[in-house]
Amino acid sequence: MKAVIVPVRDVEKVKTELISMGVLDKDRKIRIVEHPDGKFAEIPVISGMDLSDIDGSNISEFDIVEQDEPDFYRSTMSLKEHLSGTVPEELIERIPSGWQVLGDIVIVSIPEELKSYREDIARKLLVINPRCRCVLQDFGIKGTFREPEREVIIGEDTETIQKEHGCSFKLDATKIMYSKGNLAERKRMSKLGKDEVVVDMFAGIGYFSIPLAVHGKPKKVYSIELNPVSYHYLLENIQLNYLEGIVRAINGDCGEVTPQGVADRVIMGYVGITHHYLDKGIGAIRKEGGMLHYHETTPEVLVFERPIQRIKDAASALGRSAEIRACHRIKKYSPGVWHVVVDAFIK
Ligand SMILES: C[S@@+](CC[C@H](N)C(=O)[O-])C[C@H]1O[C@@H](n2cnc3c(N)ncnc32)[C@H](O)[C@@H]1O
Repeated sequence: MKAVIVPVRDVEKVKTELISMGVLDKDRKIRIVEHPDGKFAEIPVISGMDLSDIDGSNISEFDIVEQDEPDFYRSTMSLKEHLSGTVPEELIERIPSGWQVLGDIVIVSIPEELKSYREDIARKLLVINPRCRCVLQDFGIKGTFREPEREVIIGEDTETIQKEHGCSFKLDATKIMYSKGNLAERKRMSKLGKDEVVVDMFAGIGYFSIPLAVHGKPKKVYSIELNPVSYHYLLENIQLNYLEGIVRAINGDCGEVTPQGVADRVIMGYVGITHHYLDKGIGAIRKEGGMLHYHETTPEVLVFERPIQRIKDAASALGRSAEIRACHRIKKYSPGVWHVVVDAFIK
């Protein structure tokens, strides 16, 4: 983000000239900076403009700098308002009214008919979200690893740090998903685990392991993750949150590598196929007993009957018992289907 540096006495004159040239960046504030030679002003200009090219301009006599931390005006206009006049009237209603912000990255799903306006939309999203520096087009989530399909519209570095509830999560937003809908569950997990051994079977980048280890004060957390990319960020996040002595990451299939008979608490934070791993999850719980947090996606008519039955059947097949302690709806997963969690005490 560029700015012209001018002595304070010249601000009004230069500003007027920049306005008449159409290059003043109205989304950023003019900033006064102290310099050994006196007071100067940084006047924001639209990036990509070559000011020396403009005939008759006095601007070229001043230095142009890259601003480290620009000051933005808070935008009170909606994205649609920002784009009226740029996007044709008949397409305005198709402009997205929501998007996700992860760290300093905006993730947005722009419909196909607005494809030729993607950059205009992305630029305005950066105005509305001035702390962000990258915009990604989102095409959804695919595969066993729940990997996002995303494409860069503006920006280069797609790695970011999402801060939430006193925890830092580093991730590459083109490779890793981060569900805002699971926020309440991440917070709930952060209150559990004091002095316990915890096994997090589908750890991802540490969505549950990190808050539980930061706030819950467990003795040990085993975090199992199969996808090498997620595992890489899991390791980074353990370091970033100073948890090296507490969280042990294991790269592998939790059907094969889940430690057995050690846990006071087991988190099975995945959906779709989680029930296939119930024997390993229940088997991870020590013989004295412990808590299982079992996630699944359940059709409305089977909430909570099916997950409860699955837990009870898996426990009894292992000669153990399950006492249901709580049932939670996390979010609507798809039409008629809920992401649910059942807490069961296994003996
Ligand atoms: C995406 S996370 C679940 C969502 C997360 N709890 C949240 O709050 O957004 C699930 C993770 O389980 C991993 N996974 C899938 N199958 C696995 C398996 N058999 N063993 C270990 N990890 C697995 C996926 O790679 C993924 O990173």
